[in-house]
Amino acid sequence: MGKDKLRKFAENLTFDNMVQPAFDEMFRRDHPLKGRWGADFFGRIRIGNSTDNTSSPGNAMGEVSGADNGVSNIPLVLELGCGKGEYTVGLGAANQAQQDTTNKVQQDTTNKVQQGGGGKNIHGKNIHGKNFHDISSPGKNVLDTTSSGKNFLGIDIKGARMWRGAKTAGAMGLANVGFLRTRIEFINSFFAPGEVSEIWITFPDPQLKKGREKKRLTSPVFLAYYARFLASDGVIHLKTDSRELHDYTLRVIEANSLPLHAASADVYNDGDLQAANPELTTVQTTYERRFLAEGKPITYLRFGLGDRTQFEMVYDE
Ligand SMILES: C[S@@+](CC[C@H](N)C(=O)[O-])C[C@H]1O[C@@H](n2cnc3c(N)ncnc32)[C@H](O)[C@@H]1O
Repeated sequence: MGKDKLRKFAENLTFDNMVQPAFDEMFRRDHPLKGRWGADFFGRIRIGNSTDNTSSPGNAMGEVSGADNGVSNIPLVLELGCGKGEYTVGLGAANQAQQDTTNKVQQDTTNKVQQGGGGKNIHGKNIHGKNFHDISSPGKNVLDTTSSGKNFLGIDIKGARMWRGAKTAGAMGLANVGFLRTRIEFINSFFAPGEVSEIWITFPDPQLKKGREKKRLTSPVFLAYYARFLASDGVIHLKTDSRELHDYTLRVIEANSLPLHAASADVYNDGDLQAANPELTTVQTTYERRFLAEGKPITYLRFGLGDRTQFEMVYDE
């Protein structure tokens, strides 16, 4: 094995934002993080020595806390076969920036109300009270920095590739981004029912050889795994250069009457889709850049699993 790979493997062991479970921690059993990713993993990522913990969905900048802090209910987004984790980091950074802006607007609003209001009651509530609720959105606490935040977890078996994503996320101070090194076949050991809100499958091996349908990450075999932890309104994104895999997945969707939310045979020439989903072209993966350089169209599907738990198998014609 090359020196560079060994160096990355060694550094991976020092990263707070990467989990590399031992075989006996997850083979035919639940991993301790199952159902606990928000509180026990993202809630404990250290991203430097800053004491400002207001902007992180993980809520643990510079300190480790055993407390849940309300982070266990934050939606969890997976990227399967993430490689260097471009979607995990890209979506995590965008979500973090959105959170920071929301928090700043909320903080400015709170400050203005407090300065201008002189502590008087607004609509019967004391604005200096710790439990001040935003009057424009009932039930939402303006000081709650975790709402609408998301956590992002890249999954792959290749540690040297994920090193890149984990290193970048750490350098960017993203406490809402992490990586899990495991085979996707073991995925049900890691996530509890409803724990995952979205799955991104980015440029997976299309497994086009005869008889390999069950190995495809959008085959009914894998959809049945995902159905065990995807929230009922959860979605699956498939981005691929393989027209065959795109068409196969469409046939799986049709055979199982699954809700199809978006489909494109050429994302970079689909203005409407891009306008509504800028992350489809602003984030590019390593493999994607290679395919684009070869002039290949990039396809996209977004679909749900409805309330299905069992799926009709689909084979190549
Ligand atoms: C073609 S690469 C795409 C990587 C990345 N998503 C990209 O677009 O650049 C497929 C990735 O899936 C990973 N992979 C394939 N089968 C896997 C499995 N069963 N479990 C975990 N990772 C797997 C490989 O290690 C590889 O990094």
